[in-house]
Amino acid sequence: MKIAKYELNSPFILPAIAGFSDMPMRELCYRYGAGVCFTEMISAKGLVYGSDNSGLMLVTGEKEKIKAIQLFGSDPSFFERAITDERLKKFDIIDINMGCPVPKIVKNGEGSALMNNPQLAYNIIKTSVEAAQGRPVTVKMRAGFSLDNINASIIAELAEKAGASSLIVHGRVREQYYGGDILFSAIRDVKNSVGIPVFGNGNVHDIKTASDMFEKTRCDGIAIARAAIGNPFIFAELTGQTLEKDISRTIKEHFEGLLSYLPEQVAVNNFKKHFISYVKGYKGSKNIKNLITASCSKEDVANIISKFELLK
Ligand SMILES: Cc1cc2nc3c(=O)[nH]c(=O)nc-3n(C[C@H](O)[C@H](O)[C@H](O)COP(=O)(O)O)c2cc1C
Repeated sequence: MKIAKYELNSPFILPAIAGFSDMPMRELCYRYGAGVCFTEMISAKGLVYGSDNSGLMLVTGEKEKIKAIQLFGSDPSFFERAITDERLKKFDIIDINMGCPVPKIVKNGEGSALMNNPQLAYNIIKTSVEAAQGRPVTVKMRAGFSLDNINASIIAELAEKAGASSLIVHGRVREQYYGGDILFSAIRDVKNSVGIPVFGNGNVHDIKTASDMFEKTRCDGIAIARAAIGNPFIFAELTGQTLEKDISRTIKEHFEGLLSYLPEQVAVNNFKKHFISYVKGYKGSKNIKNLITASCSKEDVANIISKFELLK
């Protein structure tokens, strides 16, 4: 399948995951078969004003076949300025966050608040499409803001009209956050309303749940978020590849990837939650979890990786 001119290796993609979808995670997911992988959400305004944090999130890797960034905000002019910024020129695809449920984001009219503001959503997408100058703009949305206003198909039609190239629809409304039933009918309604590719999203974690998503929504592809954390191998499972699942090598590569562009302390801190996810379910994982929580340096992390290799 394609997003505009970009042919994806598979219909299974890694959406933006704040605190997780860093450069090494994206490279690993590509290796195991993800069709496209998005950066963590990055503030359009923060980029324009040059906050340090945003700069580090712009780092991409050579093994990222398609470079895709997600921006959030509520002011079309910041999207325009961010997208035309020199530092964003390397990104092939620009995704707009219309799903984040976090109160401080919603309070600013950003993320899922845009589901409640169709006119502003339209303006942001249209401005972004114009600023992107031919690069595809995609939109990540929810089923709606609240259960009494499931309006994803209306927003989807507006997004297509504004020039969006594809949509990811998390089948929950904002008030459900990340729990509760997936509203498959909302994703299906989106699929029936637009001609651009639609990625279903929500609780897909194996072949069975992926088949359910395809069957119930007729979506073109699927975005896998939580099930890919500490488990990039899920993309191999879903695409039917028999790639070796070398957990220790993967852990090392991920950590080294973070150390290649982050200050040591930041890399160690960022890696802790990845590490805990990687070892989940393995023998001794509770002990490893305690050690990793207390770790302070790259040597500490390297020692824990060696301990894990002996245990598993
Ligand atoms: C820790 C965490 C961070 C997330 N960050 C983002 C984000 O930056 N941008 C976004 O559009 N969605 C974000 N999401 C939502 C996911 O992309 C996805 O829509 C949601 O988790 C449902 O998919 P899943 O069941 O496959 O996890 C986040 C979810 C989690 C759990």
